[in-house]
Amino acid sequence: MFPFEVSFPTHIYFGVGELNRLGQAAKTLGKKALLVTGGNAAKRTGLLDRVQSLLQEAEVDSILFDKIEPNPRTVTVDAGAALARLHACDFVLAVGGGSVMDASKAIAAAAKSGRAIYDYMRGNPSGTGKELVPVQEALPLLTVPTVAATGSEANNISVLTHWDTHEKSSINGPALYPKMAILDPSATYTVPARVTAEACADIFSHLFESYLISAEGTHVQDGISETLIRLVVEHSITAIEEPDNEEARSTLLWASTLGISPFANAGRGAGMPLHGIEHPLSGIYDMAHGRGLAILSLPYFKMVILEDRPERLARMGRHCFGVTEEEELAAAHATIEAVQSWYERMGITERLSDFGVTRDALAGMAAEAVTIGGRGAGHLPSSRKLNAEDIVRIYEACL
Ligand code: NZQ
Ligand code: ZN
Repeated sequence: MFPFEVSFPTHIYFGVGELNRLGQAAKTLGKKALLVTGGNAAKRTGLLDRVQSLLQEAEVDSILFDKIEPNPRTVTVDAGAALARLHACDFVLAVGGGSVMDASKAIAAAAKSGRAIYDYMRGNPSGTGKELVPVQEALPLLTVPTVAATGSEANNISVLTHWDTHEKSSINGPALYPKMAILDPSATYTVPARVTAEACADIFSHLFESYLISAEGTHVQDGISETLIRLVVEHSITAIEEPDNEEARSTLLWASTLGISPFANAGRGAGMPLHGIEHPLSGIYDMAHGRGLAILSLPYFKMVILEDRPERLARMGRHCFGVTEEEELAAAHATIEAVQSWYERMGITERLSDFGVTRDALAGMAAEAVTIGGRGAGHLPSSRKLNAEDIVRIYEACL
């Protein structure tokens, strides 16, 4: 295990009904909020009305910015930041999925500094590629996640797309940690089956990516990751079949927060290579992040992990997917089959070609993956260094 430092500073309220704390929590951050939502769900489900009346009861003013699209774009962030500055908002309140929360973090940073958010994404132009400067200043942020997926509610990551160049990349920094998060599982009851499936695939990916290529001796993290993966697999199906099942939605919501946290992933000496391979896809084709990860994961398992770390695949299968094969390689193969059949049960069956991806686009996406995901290193670190040709082969296997 490698040395590590943990910061997990967001104050979390968790539980059905905890949304009622919103007014009082908001009040501690200021008198006027920029209330950020997506274009549709919060209004349609009645959540926006409820949030607005909780704010009114607590005498907190709010300015609504309801323009965040899935895979949020820099132009939208800049418009939100301009609105926050125009109305001198004290803080940002994010009510939505990962897209809304990520955009809200970026709005909070850009509103504070007055800079275009793309400046933050481009990093240090004199460096070797993507040396990002951590964001040190932002308006305070309160998050109310409405999808159990990204863990954005309690981390300091914001993933954005600059649509002019189709660059999808992340900014981070200490100022982007939400001050508070209200995790009310009932806010996720309305998430449709399709989005629930994508969300569960994303949680799974946050867990398996570093688990499969982990350093030795990460026993605590391994136990946490295995428990979370097993629970996500089990409760995903319940949540899809019974959307308002409190136990399933609560389990998925807490698993999503912990799944991308240091509790599961610190000390492994490993990042999330598959995320680096996926981001060009959602950046160009606007496909859902979790669906892209699921499609890419099967060839990644077969072409990379099966060769390099079959014992970790076998272990994940035995602990999380009920694999019983005793021989390592057979168990590793059985794990891949079990993951595939879980995706199929959730309705994830597409190929990349179903989203318009063609062979001639693969080299460009792979170059983007190693430049942005690899921060200019020319490869993505996995169980081995994945260069652009390796990544093209993974994309090809998904067409
Ligand atoms: O757009 P609206 O109207 O809000 O509808 C959304 C959207 O269509 C809908 N939805 C959200 N809550 C709902 C709901 N529908 C019904 N009931 C509800 N309660 O669901 C759709 C998807 O929402 P989105 O926020 O895009 O999904 P998700 O939470 O999966 O977030 C994905 C984004 O997060 C980034 C991804 O790249 C992607 O841009 N990520 C952020 C990370 C982070 N900050 O740490 C890490 C992740 O790996 C990921 O990269
Ligand atoms: Zn993800």
